[in-house]
Amino acid sequence: MELIVARNREDLVKVRHEGTVALVPTMGALHEGHRSLIRQARVRADQVVVSIFVNPLQFGPNEDFSRYPRTFEADLDVCRAEGVDVVFHPSAEDMYTPDRQVSVSAGEMGRVVEGAFRPGHFDGVLTVVLKLFNLVRPDLAVFGQKDAQQLALIRRMVADLDLPIEILGAPTVREPDGLALSSRNRYLSDDDRRVALALSRALRTGAAELAPAEIRRAARAVLDAAGPELTVDYLALVDPATFAEVSDDYVGLAVLAVAAKVGGTRLIDNVTLTLNPA
Ligand code: PAJ
Repeated sequence: MELIVARNREDLVKVRHEGTVALVPTMGALHEGHRSLIRQARVRADQVVVSIFVNPLQFGPNEDFSRYPRTFEADLDVCRAEGVDVVFHPSAEDMYTPDRQVSVSAGEMGRVVEGAFRPGHFDGVLTVVLKLFNLVRPDLAVFGQKDAQQLALIRRMVADLDLPIEILGAPTVREPDGLALSSRNRYLSDDDRRVALALSRALRTGAAELAPAEIRRAARAVLDAAGPELTVDYLALVDPATFAEVSDDYVGLAVLAVAAKVGGTRLIDNVTLTLNPA
């Protein structure tokens, strides 16, 4: 089947649904992490739709919206190779009319951890994801655990707004040395890249411990040892459903999440671990 490219909402409504439809929302600059989401969608659905849209609403005024990598032709090749049926690639003007007023609020959960450093970011993410859900009308959608708070908030939105969509989480794809794949990794110099390895190393070191205080201490020590080229925004050990910090006697699954700047590039990573197992 030939790949259909829908460049606006009119193109998209002409696409007929065929059986179970899966949506994989992306901002493009597709890498192996995105490919793994597409493969998971391919296994579960008859029709796979990938959206490629760099969403202005989720970038802060001093963030990298204008220089975010845009590699549309290469992304189409990736989609063809992965057997994607439809690529939805709207313009910002098509997605957001000048008279728009209403948007989604991520609530308190959107203001903690990552949200504390990126005000309005998760409101922008949820607003565009809800719009994509309404435009594509998928049965299921796939998101990466790499953006753990985003995934948790999308699950929250689906529950709170009664959206009839199944959400699938996909594991983080990493380079052999541990660095989590990200469209922003292409900004890193060779030196930056070596420093950036401290994020995944800190998470692995923390995950080898069992109690919250030890996990935080062990992970922090690795970040501190990375030197002045690494500026940590946060290291957080949180409940995966709410992103609230866990207490010392917390039992069960938790997320250890980190965000840091290396050179001019801001990176995030996380791992899931089990606290205080019996
Ligand atoms: P983007 O950063 O392009 O990521 C698209 C999807 O790929 C997200 O679900 C993200 O978690 C997943 N992903 C990124 N890196 C990954 C990795 N190394 N392993 C596994 N999955 C990975 O996230 C967004 O775009 C946007 O916020 C979006 C949801 C499209 C809304 O604009």
